[in-house]
Amino acid sequence: MLHDPNHLYIFDTTLRDGEQVPGCQLTTPEKIEIAKDLERLGVDIIEAGFPVSSPGDFQSVVELSKAVDNVIICALTRANKNDIDVAADALKYAKRPRIHTGIGSSDMHIKYKFNSTREEILERAVAAVKHAKSYVEDVEFYAEDAGRADLPYLAQMIEAVIAAGATVVNIPDTNGYCLPDQYGAKIKYLKDHVSNIDQAIISAHCHNDLGLATANSIAAVQNGARQVECTINGIGERAGNTSLEEVAMILKVHQQQFPGLTSTINSKMFTAISQKVSSMMRMPVQPNKAIVGKNAFAHSSGIHQDGFLKHRENYEIIRPEDVGLSEADIILTARSGRHALKHHLERLGYQLDKDQLAVTYEKFLVLADAKKDLCDDDLRSLMQS
Ligand code: KIV
Ligand code: ZN
Repeated sequence: MLHDPNHLYIFDTTLRDGEQVPGCQLTTPEKIEIAKDLERLGVDIIEAGFPVSSPGDFQSVVELSKAVDNVIICALTRANKNDIDVAADALKYAKRPRIHTGIGSSDMHIKYKFNSTREEILERAVAAVKHAKSYVEDVEFYAEDAGRADLPYLAQMIEAVIAAGATVVNIPDTNGYCLPDQYGAKIKYLKDHVSNIDQAIISAHCHNDLGLATANSIAAVQNGARQVECTINGIGERAGNTSLEEVAMILKVHQQQFPGLTSTINSKMFTAISQKVSSMMRMPVQPNKAIVGKNAFAHSSGIHQDGFLKHRENYEIIRPEDVGLSEADIILTARSGRHALKHHLERLGYQLDKDQLAVTYEKFLVLADAKKDLCDDDLRSLMQS
């Protein structure tokens, strides 16, 4: 597979790593609706499911393969023949199919999950890639728990699977264990020590157990990874996966740190798709979640509100319009200053001179102390009183 070294491939796994979270299960029509939104959002790859895991998951991969035209559809397998046969069957209608196969790479997994040896695991990895390759050109290999794997062994495994035909090599920090500089150094080590690494795309797949999934994914990109695996709202196993919207906005805000790197993501869809995924998966978004949380563009302290109203860039590094919101929110609480109150009253059509504003502000503070959060109707009653 020819890949563009200047493109950051966005691999969305909302419908696989995200959907396996308890309570988040979707019906096939719901998955199709989200997949179509992801296609419009501009992701490069949709991981549609793990076909061998259940008949329902198999059918979803079949239906998504039929429904989506312009995005690679990927199916997950373990490193065994049956999983791969089933995934290939589920992908038979995909216009651009990818099989994502892999096995544990850390000594912990080799010993306690597979009761095996490094040599045997290496053979299974290579055999799985070769078998997947007999069905599809595009084969991604994941070295599970690479975050804790021995580096020379990981490099040996990655070199062997690329030689066997892997076009993408996924280096998962399955347990969200690494620090950003450690994960970045891991990617750099593979760039420097795997002789055929230029024949494959390096992919970052990070979990958020220490709240570092996004930082680790960005460190990977800074060190040569060109695919990031992520989910809408960062949903996923345990504390979740890398959040797609965070990665995209970091690349936008810090463009100069990533010269020439392209992405096809339309960030204006973030708010809508975040809300849809949250409600369909019954997984609320924390209010202070970066980019898509309810408070992500809400200014509440008096000092911030005043500075924001003087010049929005005093307290705004991302324009709300860029993520599909109409405007930033200035929340009226007892911590708000006169400037914020004046702004809201003018928005509702009230023009007050300095003295009128001073009197109204005193009454406003009493009301705000009693009521905590004020809405437009509260302000109208205040003005009528
Ligand atoms: O976290 C992980 O290691 C995974 C693999 C199955 C890709 O999700
Ligand atoms: Zn994962």
